Amino acid sequence: MSQTFYDEVQEMRARYPDPLSAVLPALQLAQDRHDGWLPEAALREVAEALDLTPAYCLSIASFYDMFHTEPVGRHSVEVCTNVSCAVSGAQQVLEALERELGIGVGETTEDGNVTLRAVECLGGCGWATVVAVDNRHHLHVAARDVPRIVKELGE
Ligand code: FES
Repeated sequence: MSQTFYDEVQEMRARYPDPLSAVLPALQLAQDRHDGWLPEAALREVAEALDLTPAYCLSIASFYDMFHTEPVGRHSVEVCTNVSCAVSGAQQVLEALERELGIGVGETTEDGNVTLRAVECLGGCGWATVVAVDNRHHLHVAARDVPRIVKELGE
């Protein structure tokens, strides 16, 4: 483990009354340093820095949509499929993205450019369907908008 990562996590740890509270920011830091995902080595680094087990860190990482336990593409396309978006055509948007990108949900394009995911509520229920592209939210997305969204990813 690099000393720098360990030291940074110790600084995070010191900010909270309960060291367990540092798990999320430590996982985010580890993910940022591992090309946007958390390989086993990253989970071990977080666990070691916080005196936890890698299994515990994995249980946290696998619960939250913002963490990835598999390699991801350079760009991320996330479609909210919760209730408001579901009744506003999220499934059609998702299927249009699958067709346009040539991959299924949870997969990454062969060139490593885009990962497509279905996620829980993105907090924009009044503007359904919501699609997050590299964390920038597109609102009122319909299947007809998909070719434009995908084209922008290649630019
Ligand atoms: S249900 Fe889609 S943003 Fe909340």
